[in-house]
Amino acid sequence: MDYLSQLNDLLPTSSRLLSNSPGFLGQLAFSLKDAVTILCAAVSIPMTGFGSPNKEAPSEVPFYGRSPPVYPSPIANGTTSEQWAAAYEQARALVAQMTVEEMVNITHGWPGPCVGNTGEVPRLNIPSLCFYDGPDGLRGQEFVSAFPAGIHVAATFDKDLMHSYGRALGDEFYGRGVNIALGPVAGPLGRIARGGRNWEGLSNDPYLAGVGLGAITRGIQEAGVIATPKHWLLNEQEFRRRWSSEGDAISSNVDDRALHELYVFPFMDALREGAGAIMCSYQRANHSYACQNSKLLNGILKTELGFEGFVVSDWDGQMSGVASANAGLDLVMPNAGFWGVKLSQAVNNGSVTEERITDMATRILAPWFYLHQETGYPPTAIFSSEEKHAPVDVQAEHAELIKEIGAAGIVLVKNVNGTLPFKKPRFLCIYGYDATVKAVPWTNPDRYGGGYEVNWGWDILNGTLVTAGGSGSTTPPYVISPFQALQERVSKDRGVLRWDFYSEDPETPYVNTDACLVFINAYAGESFDRTTLADEFSDRLVLNVAAKCASTIVVVHSAGIRTVDAWINHPNITAVLFAGLPGQESGNSLVSILYGDVNPSGRLPYTVAKKQSDYGALLNSTISSGYFAEDNFVEGLYIDYRAFDKDGIKPRFEFGFGLSYTTFAYDGLSTSLMSTITGDSTLTEFPNPDVPIVQGGHPELWNIVAVVHCTLTNSGNREGSEVAQLYVGIPSEDGEADTPVRQLRGFSRVGPLAPGEKRTVVFELTRRDLSAWDVVAQQWRLRRGEYKVWVGASSRDLRLDGSVVI
Ligand code: BGC
Repeated sequence: MDYLSQLNDLLPTSSRLLSNSPGFLGQLAFSLKDAVTILCAAVSIPMTGFGSPNKEAPSEVPFYGRSPPVYPSPIANGTTSEQWAAAYEQARALVAQMTVEEMVNITHGWPGPCVGNTGEVPRLNIPSLCFYDGPDGLRGQEFVSAFPAGIHVAATFDKDLMHSYGRALGDEFYGRGVNIALGPVAGPLGRIARGGRNWEGLSNDPYLAGVGLGAITRGIQEAGVIATPKHWLLNEQEFRRRWSSEGDAISSNVDDRALHELYVFPFMDALREGAGAIMCSYQRANHSYACQNSKLLNGILKTELGFEGFVVSDWDGQMSGVASANAGLDLVMPNAGFWGVKLSQAVNNGSVTEERITDMATRILAPWFYLHQETGYPPTAIFSSEEKHAPVDVQAEHAELIKEIGAAGIVLVKNVNGTLPFKKPRFLCIYGYDATVKAVPWTNPDRYGGGYEVNWGWDILNGTLVTAGGSGSTTPPYVISPFQALQERVSKDRGVLRWDFYSEDPETPYVNTDACLVFINAYAGESFDRTTLADEFSDRLVLNVAAKCASTIVVVHSAGIRTVDAWINHPNITAVLFAGLPGQESGNSLVSILYGDVNPSGRLPYTVAKKQSDYGALLNSTISSGYFAEDNFVEGLYIDYRAFDKDGIKPRFEFGFGLSYTTFAYDGLSTSLMSTITGDSTLTEFPNPDVPIVQGGHPELWNIVAVVHCTLTNSGNREGSEVAQLYVGIPSEDGEADTPVRQLRGFSRVGPLAPGEKRTVVFELTRRDLSAWDVVAQQWRLRRGEYKVWVGASSRDLRLDGSVVI
């Protein structure tokens, strides 16, 4: 929990721009047919009131029925795999010996060293479990690493790096005795361009986010630590993410297809990899708070996706007692919330069944056994910065990996006449506040760059940006700034550097300079959404330097989208790099790209529009001053590039775009259906209903249905890697274009390839990749018809096409 988080959620929002008010949501995800039954079930009476905001609450009754009731809460049984079955056997045997009070004791938070600590049961050797932030490193600790943020990892489009990232993170959590890591993030997905937490997540494309979420989860859990993909679900904006004096939290009102095909999709990958915990989110979903939303928890997560682990509330995100227990919440943090003694009473008077509390306790202990944490787990080594202690150094060799991911996630978007890579420049000028470290970054010893008290609502950070703000920020052991790394490099070449980190309009009287580098950033943080995608100070700075320097190279560190049209076409701007949020090795990663030690292959995990208004209603968070704040996801499936494609808007830089110092040729596309390869010609519309669900969903969703091959050749004269991307056009039905024209369904970072070298690229398309969610059948359905397939270097640079017919 961020100590100022709640305060910030309550702050006025006058600085925010109003978004267009969306119209009435025609197609609600959850049918209205259960409107009556829900009265008793889904909104059951909280035991100590509603934690009510100050205003007198208007009636909630008109909203009942929009998120249908799904009861009772499914009892987990470990049938997903032998490993889960064994864990369940152990967990059940232990829980059988527990009293109701002991079970209740482990379902809520207690004071302790970690961000969250469960109760212990000493007589049964059940320890307090330690929960700790965050998605890109242990925040607020010493001798730990500051990894690149999720969005930076996604920009690598490299599955192996995503996995190594998860493993290294997991090793650090393990070394400090953290049982449960609070990450990775796919909620927010990134629906809102200015969303304050998009950078914690991977990408607003659900496929890319899913591959990353799965790989990171696998890595964390291979290290023995329970991963907590978060925030389930639809926490797409920070504004009014929680209840406050203004009224209830925003309600993300989404239709059933978009819910599945965009927002649930990436979580499926993490669940399939065995995620032992899921964190439910703060806001309401179709009018029911996410941590007591029986459709989301009992229904989608625990039934449809067969979740075997436990659901933990976001910090202070529980909004009711009996209702949340029956809706599928298993653990409340960071304290007892509406549970504790009251949950024991509820079990004793029958409001919550004994089966439910038993299931809660079993679900909490099963992942602990699943990852063998019951024996030999390292002691918890989490300290406050005021505590004197011997170093518990868990950094290992992670700096190398951080540097590698840092470089692999840098996206080169402009490079005129081979400006980059540098060919031993002798004289460089460096400008901008983002080139060097912040002068006083540790005013808050637990937060690099300062906490909310310094940075709330800011557009930029006055110092190089390596991580953004809030619970997902990091505490770097050191920060290699671009300036430091450039000094080292230039000094080796016996070159000259001149710099000005301060002026908005620096003097550039150096006639001998080879190039000018301008560093700017775009900051964001938990609890507030961004107010712009491009601040005017930075734009002026870039233009001022470009006006005087014939070769101006712009480096942008950003917590998400940064528009660049104020200067991108300036003739003196010869190269531009989106350098993301690279973590502690920032400067070293950048220099390896600038000098060509690493050939850039990073790709944009989002669309950079020409102008901010091109994002339309999805630019800003939805501002609602009503007591029941509403955010209708009327765009359905059409976010980011799906929307730009549909509306025919040409972006400045499209999703998936990024340049290299070499060129690649694509040829020889072939597609084949697995059914023809295996001789099994039955490609049913739906997965076999007789096959039981396992964690992650119906197992047949992962069956490979089609395979696409092509050949990639390095056609340039420098070694490099290429991110080949596969997009699919799922056939529309009923004569209406009801599906995005193309959606990412495969990618591969191929290489490095030497000049002239060829490689065959293989893309495997699963049943899920080719299916659309059928709202009537409530199942993924393989549509009949022609599926278009494109392979290319971005979502608009499509080099090859073909199709498969099902
Ligand atoms: C955030 C979570 C975080 C938790 C614990 C909450 O405010 O939303 O992402 O894990 O605090 O710090």
